[in-house]
Amino acid sequence: MQHNFDEVVVRRGTDAKKYLHYGPDVLPMWIADTDFKCPQPVVDVCVKRMMEGVYGYPEVSEEYKAAIALWQKKRFGWDVPAACCEFVPGVIPGIICAMRALSHPGDNLAMFTPSYPPFNDMAIHNGRNVLRCELKPVDGHYAIDFDQLEAYLAEERTRLFLLCNPHNPTGRVFTREELTRIGELCLKHHVIVLTDEIHEDIVYKGYRHIPFASISPAFAANSVTFVNASKTFNVAGFRSAAFICTNPDIKGRIHEAVLDNKGIGENLCGTQATIAAYTQCDYYADELVEYLEKNLDLLCETIAKTDKITLLRPEGTYLIWLDCRKMGLSQDELVKFFEEKAKLGLNNGITFGPEGQGHMRINIATSRANMEEAMRRLTAALEAL
Ligand SMILES: Cc1ncc(COP(=O)(O)O)c(C=O)c1O
Repeated sequence: MQHNFDEVVVRRGTDAKKYLHYGPDVLPMWIADTDFKCPQPVVDVCVKRMMEGVYGYPEVSEEYKAAIALWQKKRFGWDVPAACCEFVPGVIPGIICAMRALSHPGDNLAMFTPSYPPFNDMAIHNGRNVLRCELKPVDGHYAIDFDQLEAYLAEERTRLFLLCNPHNPTGRVFTREELTRIGELCLKHHVIVLTDEIHEDIVYKGYRHIPFASISPAFAANSVTFVNASKTFNVAGFRSAAFICTNPDIKGRIHEAVLDNKGIGENLCGTQATIAAYTQCDYYADELVEYLEKNLDLLCETIAKTDKITLLRPEGTYLIWLDCRKMGLSQDELVKFFEEKAKLGLNNGITFGPEGQGHMRINIATSRANMEEAMRRLTAALEAL
């Protein structure tokens, strides 16, 4: 491997939010960043920029837009013009601007659940109603209830469908057939698709990420895609993301909302880091997935030895959804079990909505040494239960 993912990077004692949350006896495996160093070309370009010593307002970077488009083309075969790509200071700020531009308070926003907690919060804080279409286990994976989805899309005040693909927290990577059905239903009911594809690079063997908008010009014209190099290259702290939209009317409306909310202003290092990552670091993305897949194997082997936790092997993302209902604990007891008995800092499933009752989410984007230690702790705690 060109990048050493085995390196144990000491993040405790730095400003890492993941580590600040827990005492030294707990291994934190929650918030969605990785414990890996960035690829060297990203570090180099940031150091070079910092050495310039002047950090005034930057101009809009055309190179950034080109890098966003390049990644879509070479990794996923989506040929989208650079002019359709635009900086936003985070996927969530971008989605909020799109939601404000394309719907009104009192309108409905439909989404698959359980869902990444800020999706629900941002909708509620902006006066939108959330329609929760639950992904339920069927034949070993989380399946879409298309009847429920259509019923929600058909409601008069449903303006937007927020797709998250690959899906956090279930790890589903939706197939072309599923995406096509979603897209056709949204067109039929005049619902615009906001598609969060931030986890696009983390897809395991046998699966493929298909950008929703790449399926057809009609889907592209009825959607907005959100991406960020953060999950793959561990640059979330730079607050630099992008939205991609081929529909000039929709793109213009979101651009206006971004301006109105003063969500402008590119991050000097963020743009440079993203350009370096997307133009020079394909190797890192490939090696990362290979490395994560082995961590996932370890987790699956550990869980297979217990009948207390159920895990439907995810198809993508490094955020793994654990169904702990067979442990027979209340949600508070479950959280306590992981933190106090297993000494592992996981996300509480209930924060992903009522569907998360009895669930926890674990982040496996860490060194093998940490992962092995975590599995030892989990096994011992489960045996003692
Ligand atoms: C699905 C999803 N969308 C968005 C984000 C956050 O994106 P950003 O930091 O660019 O706002 C995350 C982070 O975990 C995520 O999992």
